[in-house]
Amino acid sequence: MDFPMILLRLADWFLYQFLANSCYRAAMKVKNNGFFFKNQSIRSSSSNQFPLHPNITKCNLYGRKSQTIVCDINGTLLRTHSFFPYFMLVAFEGGSILRALLLLISYPFLCILDYELKMRVMVFITFCGLRLKDMDSVSRAVLPKFYLENMNFQAFEVLDSAGCKVVITSVPRVMVEGFLKEYLSVDHVKGTELHTLGHYFTGLISTSGLLVKHRALKEFFGEKRPDIGIGTSSLHDHLLISLCKESYVISKEESKSNQISVMPRDKYPKPLVFHDGRLAFLPTPLATLSMFIWLPVGILLAIFRILVGICLPYKVAVFLAMLTGVNLKLKGSAPQKSENGKGVLYVCTHRTLLDPVFLSNSLCKPLTAVTYSLSKMSEIMAPIKTVRLTRDRKQDGETMQKLLSEGDLVVCPEGTTCREPYLLRFSSLFAELADEIVPVAMNTNVTMFYGTTASGFKCLDPIFFLMNPRPSYDVQILGKLPKELTCAGGKSSHEVANYIQRKLGHALGFECTTLTRRDKYLMLAGNEGVVEEKKKKS
Ligand SMILES: *[C@@H]1O[C@H](CO)[C@@H](O)[C@H](O)[C@H]1NC(C)=O
Ligand SMILES: *[C@@H]1O[C@H](CO)[C@@H](O)[C@H](O)[C@H]1NC(C)=O
Ligand SMILES: *[C@@H]1O[C@H](CO)[C@@H](O)[C@H](O)[C@H]1NC(C)=O
Ligand SMILES: *[C@@H]1O[C@H](CO)[C@@H](O)[C@H](O)[C@H]1NC(C)=O
Repeated sequence: MDFPMILLRLADWFLYQFLANSCYRAAMKVKNNGFFFKNQSIRSSSSNQFPLHPNITKCNLYGRKSQTIVCDINGTLLRTHSFFPYFMLVAFEGGSILRALLLLISYPFLCILDYELKMRVMVFITFCGLRLKDMDSVSRAVLPKFYLENMNFQAFEVLDSAGCKVVITSVPRVMVEGFLKEYLSVDHVKGTELHTLGHYFTGLISTSGLLVKHRALKEFFGEKRPDIGIGTSSLHDHLLISLCKESYVISKEESKSNQISVMPRDKYPKPLVFHDGRLAFLPTPLATLSMFIWLPVGILLAIFRILVGICLPYKVAVFLAMLTGVNLKLKGSAPQKSENGKGVLYVCTHRTLLDPVFLSNSLCKPLTAVTYSLSKMSEIMAPIKTVRLTRDRKQDGETMQKLLSEGDLVVCPEGTTCREPYLLRFSSLFAELADEIVPVAMNTNVTMFYGTTASGFKCLDPIFFLMNPRPSYDVQILGKLPKELTCAGGKSSHEVANYIQRKLGHALGFECTTLTRRDKYLMLAGNEGVVEEKKKKS
């Protein structure tokens, strides 16, 4: 866009922001004074911009099951000020890092465009040439986590109290519909429709244009009026909620800063167990910029950390890794060697592919990882020995006995990683094959990139994990299982597995579930996790 055009836009923006808004405000003042001059209680209780609508905290939540509620997701249900981070998530996770970079570079220009043009440009950069399938998987596996974390709790409670929920928003419908219907049981979602061609988005907005909220409401409800409307004090929202019988406002500043409006995890309408995607932070423009600046450093650092881990002795490797920012904490110590001179089986929670590596490094001894399923690639790249089980009891038993006589083993019976504070069902196979069992509670924390993926390139997992500025690993070695609680002591393998799961869950403060690898892949990737399913017999 050339320079005169930008000037024109600036002038346009100025006119809109200053003249239109101030006229509107003046009109509101006249209206308030005219209507409510005598009512001191309303005037004093609301000192915000448009005192026409009461504060959302005044909304009574009871007896609303037969009522209809209308609100927007951007600004009202979400605490974030702008919707840009969610476009960035789609661009990065559904598109590519280049698309994300382009969107970031366009940000300064977006700031000077007016509302409609800004949306069109953002939609174009984010969606042009994107496959419908990719948007679908981002909306299923990536966005819900970020929406839940930024949900405005007060707005959610009001929404939840109503029987029929309608969300009217000008952001693209495909970005929010899945989440709203799945997690908030919203009945109808009206949003901006995007133009598609075959299996791809063209990046254009469909011929009906950008959705105008109050017009969409009139079209949807016709003569009827919805019972409640909630919104911010902005002009767009004001026009929307003025059409409702009752209306409440949320103040933007408060929603951002007030801790009451943060939704606590235990109030999530559905537990968030699985999610996918690489980014561990909400990609606001500033955070995304920091990420791109960090990227080259991060890549070098990851390579350095990997080389150190492979080439140097444990003590030196751990020291150097800690020096570069890896935060490794070890609690408890390796158990005494058993009388019969055999190795022990460490049973770990599974947070990333690197669990056995970090355990081996923190114990300063070589371990062999026994896996149920591992891609060929990870097997080749692994710095420690890996052995694959066949799920044939007799053969596996023999393998294990042989390996145990050579040294210690480590197994992650969950069979797949989980990022949230939940433990998946423990496969019980290991319990039958070993008597000397040591549970190990592992947890990780990352601030920039997740080191696990369900639908991306698994071979990049360790690299992404080590690209974090301060990846952290907590290793907590619990006491050896007493003999009477093992299979040799007469317990069934399921009892042993469940007992260890509970024990580890307790040590980490995690919740135990009966979810499996299959559940995870069905939810995140829409397939059954091919690597395992080919082998699976049960
Ligand atoms: C004044 O405000 C109070 C409380 O908000 C309300 O109960 C009352 O009906 C209002 N009176 C008028 C005249 O609007
Ligand atoms: C809304 O009510 C809450 C709690 O009573 C109060 O802290 C907040 O300042 C009010 N907000 C506005 C905009 O009046
Ligand atoms: C989202 O809401 C904010 C105000 O809450 C507004 O400034 C912004 O333009 C909205 N974004 C979209 C895409 O509608
Ligand atoms: C991870 O670390 C960050 C920064 O140190 C901290 O704010 C966050 O609470 C930690 N998350 C977990 C799950 O421990």
